[in-house]
Amino acid sequence: MNKNTSSIAPWFSDAKLGIFIHWGIYAVKGVSESWSFYNGEISHEDYMAQCGGFTASKYDPDAWADLFKRAGAQYAVLTTKHHDGVALWDTAASDLNVVKQTPAGRDVVAPWVKALRKKGMHVGLYFSHLDWNHPDYPTMLPWDYDPARHNNPFGHPMDGVEKPERWKRFLKFHRAQLKELCDRFKPDLFWFDGSWEPAPEHWKFKQLGQQLQTWCPGVVLNSRMGGYGDYETPEQGIPTVAPEGPWEFCMTINDSWGYQPRDKNYKTPRQIIRTFAEVISMGGKLLLDIGPKADGTVPAPQVRTLETLGAWIAKHKPAVYGTVAGLPPGLFYGASTLSKDRKSLFLFVFDRPWKDIAVKGLSARVKRVRCVGTGHDLTHRVLGGAPWANIPGILWIDLPAAEFDKYATVVRVDFETPLEIWMQAGHMITANT
Ligand code: GLC
Repeated sequence: MNKNTSSIAPWFSDAKLGIFIHWGIYAVKGVSESWSFYNGEISHEDYMAQCGGFTASKYDPDAWADLFKRAGAQYAVLTTKHHDGVALWDTAASDLNVVKQTPAGRDVVAPWVKALRKKGMHVGLYFSHLDWNHPDYPTMLPWDYDPARHNNPFGHPMDGVEKPERWKRFLKFHRAQLKELCDRFKPDLFWFDGSWEPAPEHWKFKQLGQQLQTWCPGVVLNSRMGGYGDYETPEQGIPTVAPEGPWEFCMTINDSWGYQPRDKNYKTPRQIIRTFAEVISMGGKLLLDIGPKADGTVPAPQVRTLETLGAWIAKHKPAVYGTVAGLPPGLFYGASTLSKDRKSLFLFVFDRPWKDIAVKGLSARVKRVRCVGTGHDLTHRVLGGAPWANIPGILWIDLPAAEFDKYATVVRVDFETPLEIWMQAGHMITANT
């Protein structure tokens, strides 16, 4: 695996926020993306009949790109093909695409890529390895094959017999689609998914990784390719321990990846802002998912949340962009980031303090403390510690209610010298002043 930060594209190392878009025929009836027919909640026929309602009649990729930019995102990832195999671009490798099968009648990826680039954003393409609609797909057995469990006709050969010749054909098709995506769109990132059915060796992921790098030099790959790839993709549950190497946490805005109008279980802007701050505090990035409707409009609550997040980020830019992971847990009861030169610490305060907030373990002299949102200086003092023995005291910062941000208040601490963090059990002092 290639998970070392030095080889990954610098734009990606620095990125903090991406927008994930699950857009496909599943938005027509508002059912779950691909899974609804795989799990039998809807018949395959009814699922595919949604093709007739995918109009993209109000699709405005420039407006999407503008919204993502206003949200503060540096990249976005679009489902070019989910597990249902319906391609959103004009693929020559199969007729199953929105150009041929839906009233949209056109490639919807191409104008999206163009719109993002116009706004200076990076382009990520989601692509499902597995394809539950391709006749040659369900031809291999999983490594832990158990006929009682692996009996889904979309995913596995029902007779329990592998058909390597047909699998070979499927792989050819899989590579052909990826080559098209590389040639046409030169993506900055591939966001793979659906690698869990046939055993990893059947996919030849290592070879695929090399192929993608020749077709599209420098492309960033997520690690949903049998352990190859550049970064981890924890999903839905925010990590409580930072994953090793570069990582991105993907999360739905309500409970659904795609558009499901009955799902009103939206996370509030405050909750999303807090999650975002916690993720960047641990050195990760957030890939926040939205589900546009079949006509291409983004549901109003999703627009509002992105705009609120964007306004908050715009107000607190220095605490977000160009920063690295902040303090280890326990030194401050909130999230934090550090400037790359470690001379500024940003504290994210989610709750209302009674009077002051406290930070421990700071081995550097404080120069100035400010509230980022208001720009006001904040009174502060260091109490305790033994500077002559290099033992830091506690930095107490007054944070009056007038300084509060509605979503999360950010306090900036500037130091005279780059911050060193004191993580020690402490010891007896043998020389006092
Ligand atoms: C899961 C699901 C899929 C969704 C993806 C996003 O792997 O299979 O529906 O697109 O998560 O991370």
